[in-house]
Amino acid sequence: MEKQNRMSHVLAIPIPAQGHINPMTQFSKRLASKELQVTIVIFSSKVLKHTRRPGSVQVVTIDFDGYEGKISLDDYLRQFRATVTRKLPELVAELSTSSGHPISCLLYDSHMPWVLETARQLGLIGASLFTQSCAVDTVYYNIHEMQQKKIPPEKLLVTVSRFPSLAALEIADLPSFVQGMESESEYSSLLNQVVGQFSNFKDADWIFVNTFNTLEEEAVNWLASQRSIKPIGPMIPSFYLDRQLEDDKEYGPSLFKPNLDGCNEWLDSKETGSVVYVSFGSLAALGGEQMAEIAWGLKRSGCCFLWVVRESERKKLPINFAEESSGNGLIVTWSQQLEVLAHRSVGCFMTHCGWNSTLEALSLGVPMVAMPQWTDQPTNAKYIADVWQVGVRVKANEKGIVTKEEVEGCIREVMEGERGNEIRRNSEKWMKLAQTAADEGGSSDKNITEFAADLARKFH
Ligand code: UDX
Repeated sequence: MEKQNRMSHVLAIPIPAQGHINPMTQFSKRLASKELQVTIVIFSSKVLKHTRRPGSVQVVTIDFDGYEGKISLDDYLRQFRATVTRKLPELVAELSTSSGHPISCLLYDSHMPWVLETARQLGLIGASLFTQSCAVDTVYYNIHEMQQKKIPPEKLLVTVSRFPSLAALEIADLPSFVQGMESESEYSSLLNQVVGQFSNFKDADWIFVNTFNTLEEEAVNWLASQRSIKPIGPMIPSFYLDRQLEDDKEYGPSLFKPNLDGCNEWLDSKETGSVVYVSFGSLAALGGEQMAEIAWGLKRSGCCFLWVVRESERKKLPINFAEESSGNGLIVTWSQQLEVLAHRSVGCFMTHCGWNSTLEALSLGVPMVAMPQWTDQPTNAKYIADVWQVGVRVKANEKGIVTKEEVEGCIREVMEGERGNEIRRNSEKWMKLAQTAADEGGSSDKNITEFAADLARKFH
């Protein structure tokens, strides 16, 4: 191929979890729309079965599945790192030759900071994508810095919860791995993993964050005072932001198969703003008692509901609940979440507050009932309820259960009355700001353009 036809080629490397594959795929598509060649590596044997090719981005796979609990997390992460480190140089060489566009940049998930070493060995640019909020990144960054200075955990907890560029956080608002950090716990490996994202934070050539400037202005400015960071969010298919590119509706590689029989028709048959959409994302597993309280709470609210209960969670539903609520309620094992959130009949999203779900609801102007489960979700819930004021947050009882009365009350608060109106007004405001950031020439779009131009310049 003639040199002048060759493009700079980015190899995008998400970790094998849906909440990480989705934003990386969107980022890849945006880069591909800016005159770059982009290939995304998916680490799973399961994924291609339900994958539609994400536009102009090529997808390749390496057989290495997400964590399924068969070995310890630390062993899994060691094996993952060894496999990726071994296979990346071969893949880079192979793709550079087969596509005719030499790979010039490794764009990796921030949970794999060690990919930077491979980038350096191969003489490539190393760019990292942080897929969680900038507030959460700020918490982990500070913990990383203070751990380096051997500051004891109890002091560290107080410091991060009172940190000036963040909302005033109670301990219960901190990411779950941080809440219990004073004692050795099942979360210790996960805490090491999330804090480890910052091990070479200052060395990477580019740092991207799936957020937008106006959403987290103070946290973005503070983290940017430590080193340059580029907000590029919200990373959702462009169709949902501007309703123009019909063919950019799909997320792309999926680890789950949607079962949507009749889902759209069901939504079409409901009144505008009347449906509560309920989903706890791709990982969270609720207890049986909690599932039953949600079920009865939904029923008591009198609202129609569409509830995603993954196949592995289905046995926790009360007996006959799905059959008895048919008509008023629909239960599916996986949805096309963006299509659902964009549907006119959906009036409220009861969510676990995963960062993607949070950004998706916010960008589509859907008010939320925040029911965080673990990881970054408590912090996201705090911002949803108290900072952006686009939803209400449930309160658990002394046994840690969110009762049916609480579920009903929170849904009513969002769906009815003056508080609901106020939340809807705020949701509209944030939806517009999200669109402005992503629009051509908006703050996030500018950062993506700058990166693409820099890669193209260095390549030629
Ligand atoms: C996890 C963590 O929970 C989250 O907090 C972190 O920020 C990323 O990793 P997950 O639990 O899967 O992610 O939640 P979320 O971040 O919301 O991502 C789920 C993705 O799957 C979203 O993009 C959502 O649109 C999609 N989804 C979810 C579907 O397409 N269909 C569904 O039925 C449910």
